[in-house]
Amino acid sequence: MGLSACGLTDQPAVSQPPVRKGGAYRLTIGKTPAVLTLQDIEALFARRGAEQYSGEPVTQLEHALQCAALAEAEGADDELVTAAFLHDLGHLLQDLGETPTLRGVDDVHQYAALPFLRGLFGERVLGGIQLHVDAKRYLCATRPGYHEALSEDSRRSLKLQGGTFSDEQAQAFIARAGAPDAVRLRIWDDLAKTAGAPTPPLSHFMARARRCALGVRAS
Ligand SMILES: [Fe+2]
Ligand SMILES: [Fe+2]
Repeated sequence: MGLSACGLTDQPAVSQPPVRKGGAYRLTIGKTPAVLTLQDIEALFARRGAEQYSGEPVTQLEHALQCAALAEAEGADDELVTAAFLHDLGHLLQDLGETPTLRGVDDVHQYAALPFLRGLFGERVLGGIQLHVDAKRYLCATRPGYHEALSEDSRRSLKLQGGTFSDEQAQAFIARAGAPDAVRLRIWDDLAKTAGAPTPPLSHFMARARRCALGVRAS
């Protein structure tokens, strides 16, 4: 089902955890979230990938490609590279304007894309996307110097996202399935904000995504 068939409603973001104020958008066909195809994802990047990544010196597409390229450089498999590539897809499904963190808005983007990708990718890809924000909270609690090295916008969003984990929360998080992968993804995420960094093109990572797509909706 193409995006052109989707209507926009102003319902709060997603299916899972915090439903918050803030004007997030949800793509729907009738009342059912539309599952994206790989073509839809490519079209989303074509349509909105040139938008600036809030508070960072890269575009949405550059950030996605850099994150995926860093995963690839470390030998990550198709699913983890694809999770890195799509970890912020939720930003492209919302329209919250410039730097929502400055307005105190948490866009809960780690959840926003999930209903639209379920059925296209397996739990490992979805888990990397869902947990990449909590991985930041985990790294702040467990890795000396990590918090200080975060970008200004990332520190601002951390507060809105619940802040640094307590020791107990950190232990509970890292015991979750997919959490170690999400921590790796998060490290790439933090590094994927370099203006002008060379990467493979979108088509390269679309091909890797296709290799781990579940098949039915892969074309
Ligand atoms: Fe993110
Ligand atoms: Fe990111």
